[in-house]
Amino acid sequence: MADPREKMLEVDHIRVQFGKKRHPFVAVRDVSFDIYKGETFGLVGESGSGKTTIGRAIIRANPLAAGEIRFEGQRISGRLSAARDRQVTRDIQMIFQDPMSSLNERAKVGYIVAEGLYAPGRHCSEEERRQKVAKALSDVGLLPEFASRFPHEFSGGQRQRIGIARALILEPKLIVADEPISALDVSIRAQVLNLLAALQKERGLTYLFIAHDLSVVRFICDRIAVIHKGDIVELAESEQLFAHPLHPYTQALLSAIPQPDPIAERQKKLLVYDPSCHDYRVDKPVWTEVEPGHFVLGNQRELEGYRKMLTR
Ligand SMILES: Nc1ncnc2c1ncn2[C@@H]1O[C@H](COP(=O)(O)OP(=O)(O)OP(=O)(O)O)[C@@H](O)[C@H]1O
Ligand SMILES: [Mg+2]
Repeated sequence: MADPREKMLEVDHIRVQFGKKRHPFVAVRDVSFDIYKGETFGLVGESGSGKTTIGRAIIRANPLAAGEIRFEGQRISGRLSAARDRQVTRDIQMIFQDPMSSLNERAKVGYIVAEGLYAPGRHCSEEERRQKVAKALSDVGLLPEFASRFPHEFSGGQRQRIGIARALILEPKLIVADEPISALDVSIRAQVLNLLAALQKERGLTYLFIAHDLSVVRFICDRIAVIHKGDIVELAESEQLFAHPLHPYTQALLSAIPQPDPIAERQKKLLVYDPSCHDYRVDKPVWTEVEPGHFVLGNQRELEGYRKMLTR
């Protein structure tokens, strides 16, 4: 049966590497996933696993060594015409992890939020710009007057709202949110998550939500991909991933989620992931759909085991 969901973004066998051409460091090996229109897609993995690298490849800040990225069915990786480049830049925006360092300290909030409107080829009068900034600020719950202040006058939560206003002003379709709440105080994390959810509902936005641990993404993501050292090892609908984690790394991440019950928490067994549990010398791993919508990276022997786990 054809999938009725519309693909907004297709990440197709991408590889991203840094450093010398002859001895590159491979940050993202061979990654594929699709993001559907209107969904929140979670990308989860430990520090250094390649999450930001993938996000930056999608906003075209990291070139690809292999593979292709398509947005609304059209290639956006590699060279684009100037007009297409401008359009894609507006359509895909990123929100950054650390609101303390991602805003230009010397610029006023009004300029920071409006910056995307100054891009070449965009014609926007001063008055139009002022109105758009006021609207973007109020859309994220800030006062329009804040436009004339500097970033250091704001708290972490407010600064993250400024970062969101800056993305919204371009009316994007897809937002790459790179750990948007991990640098914030626990007490204001929910506020920022609620804001993102409300904006999504109002505007039909699509999100790629990057996070360190599964507990954050569990309730906000429709589907989740788990990444380990440059490879996505598992991808499934959130409920399915929590109910039937297959890859040992996913299982380890799940076991690390704190439990509300202190007795259960104390008795909990933490699983440690040991990559040497895989023997990939002869039987190589293949990215495989083991049940509808549930993908896992494994070799033939492992895949057989995963399929058995699902029928149990
Ligand atoms: N511009 C770069 N030059 C060289 N190496 C890089 C560059 N950007 C990232 N890397 C390396 O690529 C790997 C993946 O980095 P990345 O920032 O994507 O990880 P991450 O999953 O976002 O981690 P974190 O959770 O800490 O943000 C890391 O080993 C990092 O050092
Ligand atoms: Mg990162």
